Amino acid sequence: MRAQVAIIGAGPAGMFLAHLLREAGIDAVVLELRSREYVVARVRAGVLEQSTVDLMRRLGIGERVGREGMVHAGTTLAVDGDSFHVDFAELANGAAITVYGQSEVMKDLNQAADERHIHVIYEASDVRPHGLDTDTPWVTWNSPHGARRLECDFVAGCDGFHGVSRGCIPHGALTVFERAYPFGWLGVLAEVPPCNHELVYANHERGFALASMRSPTRSRCYLQCSLQDRIEDWSDDAFWDEFALRIGGSFASRITRGPTFEKSIAPLRSFVCAPMRWGRLFLAGDAAHIVPPTGAKGLNLAVADVVVLANALGRLYATGSCEGVDGYSDRALARVWKAERFSWWLTNLTHRFPHMDGFDRQMQLAELAYLRSSRAARSAFAENYVGLPLEV
Ligand code: FAD
Ligand code: DHB
Repeated sequence: MRAQVAIIGAGPAGMFLAHLLREAGIDAVVLELRSREYVVARVRAGVLEQSTVDLMRRLGIGERVGREGMVHAGTTLAVDGDSFHVDFAELANGAAITVYGQSEVMKDLNQAADERHIHVIYEASDVRPHGLDTDTPWVTWNSPHGARRLECDFVAGCDGFHGVSRGCIPHGALTVFERAYPFGWLGVLAEVPPCNHELVYANHERGFALASMRSPTRSRCYLQCSLQDRIEDWSDDAFWDEFALRIGGSFASRITRGPTFEKSIAPLRSFVCAPMRWGRLFLAGDAAHIVPPTGAKGLNLAVADVVVLANALGRLYATGSCEGVDGYSDRALARVWKAERFSWWLTNLTHRFPHMDGFDRQMQLAELAYLRSSRAARSAFAENYVGLPLEV
């Protein structure tokens, strides 16, 4: 087989890239380790930046998110039972975020891929890129019908944090920046109305909590937990008791309790590898960087990367200019680092760290009080939360 671009991974980065390349008239094949059902069923991100929704519209896959996505023009920060609102409409030039689950985004990408005959190969095991430092790379894999080979001009490594692509870059050519946090997030879904019409991020002495949602009748809730905790340790009663305590105030009294499902514990990590290109390999999304989920940036960053990459490849194929592909890593990383900073800052502001002393706690409380009282500080929060501009 032959394609101009081989895309490894059919998550958000890989599928958005496939659509963007199709729009630019570039031929791509997507190779995915898992089944289509597995990729769609993963419960992960829930918050789309304005530019992600705008891109879905531009690609002709924005109809359902426009109908079913919940547009939020603000969010609430809570601290020890007290709370204040950050109004994006007022502070971020009318931009908003849209609550729409990653599963729904994947369904929309996949359905449009079927209609556009975008070639996605699922259950491709042992995917391996070769010849990345030559002008004629190729990718091999095993399908249920035997060994396969795809020749291409470029390989896009969109295969997430645990994928195969990043490991193809020689050690000496890559610098890794990393911070592992000493706690995780326990996330649950419950078929109950959310306790607030917008998201609530709570800093409580016992740890962080986040009230989110997937629909007016489905809540998505998170608690900071120990990395030693197991899902079985958290009964529904224990979860809701702790959630009510940390969310506090009037939100606690509006919690509807119900059976929880899709319970999972995710560790929190900041990770960036640089550069995001080696030879004919480009990394995009979680393959190149991870943010702690606090700022809801992971999926949105993956989208921002592939917009830069698709523009660069489009220019190369249309004009022969290498300027875009040569600048891809620097351009993508410039935005990545800003999102890393915001996610790190919001994680530090809202979580309980094991060795925090009284001074550290007072610094958190003072920073939250400053946010509450200063329009400038709230503007900075809002500008980052709704999303920094994409390259256009
Ligand atoms: P992925 O979504 O990881 O997609 C990579 C794809 O590549 C996958 O389909 C994978 O199966 C495939 N793949 C992997 N290895 C191979 C291989 N060797 N060969 C072929 N294919 C391969 N972000 C938020 O904003 N909010 C959240 O609440 C949130 N929660 C998260 C919870 C978890 C457990 C995780 C892991 C992430 C979460 N994120 C969250 C982050 C967000 O989901 C990711 O940033 C986003 O999915 C990144 O998209 P991606 O396409 O780069 O990577
Ligand atoms: C969700 C996840 C986040 O990490 C976040 O900051 C906001 C919402 C969610 O899954 O709904």
